[in-house]
Amino acid sequence: MKKVYLETFGCQMNVSDSERVATQLEKDGYEITPSEDLADVILFNTCSVREKAENKLYSRIGEVRSAKNVNNSNQPIVGVLGCVAQLEGEILFQRNQKIDFVLGTKAVGRISSAIENVRNGNDSFFDLAEREENYDWSVSKTQMFSSHVGFVPIIEGCNKFCTYCIVPFSRGREKSLAPDEIIKQVLRLRQEGIKEIHLIGQNVNSYRPKTEEGLENFHGATPFSKLLRAVAATGLERIKFTTSFPRDFHPDIIDAINENENLCNWVHLPVQSGSNNVLKAMRRGHTIESYIEKVVKIKSSARKISLTTDFIIGFPNETDQDFQATLDLIKYCEFDSSYIFKYSPRPGTPAFKMVDNVSPKEKTNRFLELEKVQRIYQQKALQSSIGKSVEILVEKFSSKNEAELSGHTSCQKVVNFKCFDDLIGKIVKVKITSSKLNTLFGEIS
Ligand code: 5AD
Ligand code: SF4
Repeated sequence: MKKVYLETFGCQMNVSDSERVATQLEKDGYEITPSEDLADVILFNTCSVREKAENKLYSRIGEVRSAKNVNNSNQPIVGVLGCVAQLEGEILFQRNQKIDFVLGTKAVGRISSAIENVRNGNDSFFDLAEREENYDWSVSKTQMFSSHVGFVPIIEGCNKFCTYCIVPFSRGREKSLAPDEIIKQVLRLRQEGIKEIHLIGQNVNSYRPKTEEGLENFHGATPFSKLLRAVAATGLERIKFTTSFPRDFHPDIIDAINENENLCNWVHLPVQSGSNNVLKAMRRGHTIESYIEKVVKIKSSARKISLTTDFIIGFPNETDQDFQATLDLIKYCEFDSSYIFKYSPRPGTPAFKMVDNVSPKEKTNRFLELEKVQRIYQQKALQSSIGKSVEILVEKFSSKNEAELSGHTSCQKVVNFKCFDDLIGKIVKVKITSSKLNTLFGEIS
């Protein structure tokens, strides 16, 4: 049996694609191996959102090609999948002669025939075409990234074209999956004993299927809030969704969360900057005032909802004053946590033509300052749980301490606790006793 090693970079959509690539390969008689040294085929599912992620691909290809392959005397077949594959296409063969095939973001369902093509002597096979009509969105339980959390794509691609972002080019236009197909996936996962799912997409609240068949019995202001109610009605224990786009984030989403206990109390709403000048240059389609309106709705909800965000610092022409406005926004919104990124110019995006005029040193200073301020509010949010009993889905042993189990709360905070029973895969109550940088600690209650 041919062995395949599959390594994934980037977002949940890539992880989800990799789950289906592995499912397809398993069906076609391949074995997925965790060891690159034993592999006959090595696959990289790539990310292009920042330069660093893209460069990682080239260094990893160098590593696997120079490593001694202990399994056989032949070199493994190396395939590049995902966003870098889609963007670069055929050029990748010139850039790196160690690549055997290239498969775009929509072509992942044809993984086995890509490998076969190379085996049959085609030494620069590439496929950047659309998904096949009958693409199978299901994932086999053995190939899930986490045995306890299922990813369910609901919308692919992005139509927003924020000026810094490569995603609309690598993932194409927004395409929503049919509601009945989504519900079918959720019911299947529920039947398999999965306790938590994440409805995923670049902009989940832009969800707009061709027909709303399957949503007729659910009221809501937008197709997305109808879908949330329909997914909640499946009875699956925990439903999370990510990522939300501020302009399309309808307040009715919060009503849906308040009405359904199994819709988790967590919203990830990337703001990117606290300055209207920068937001305009980023062409985000929202202002600070309109963002704050949504935040007020989230914070005043009957259930306490945790709020997380993304920031880009050092966007072209970002002044000290603009940066100060971002710090002020953090203080106002008190985000539970945030991802902070230094601006990375991406060839092909509109912002690439702007001068990247915030120096690397200034970017680092702003990054550290933002991180420091964010940490204050992150600590405040974590400490507010101390003394409380919270439900967590136990997912694994803690990576730092094997005597502890680790899982997430409904509001997406990590909790570690000591326990000798095998509770992995279960939802249990834990009393929170302390907190550290990104983690809560507790004891079973
Ligand atoms: N540079 C830095 N960060 C970026 N992101 C997207 N594009 C870039 C870029 N060119 C960040 C945004 C987005 C997250 C997924 O990645 O903050 O929300
Ligand atoms: Fe990129 Fe903007 Fe689309 Fe998000 S909304 S994927 S940042 S273009």
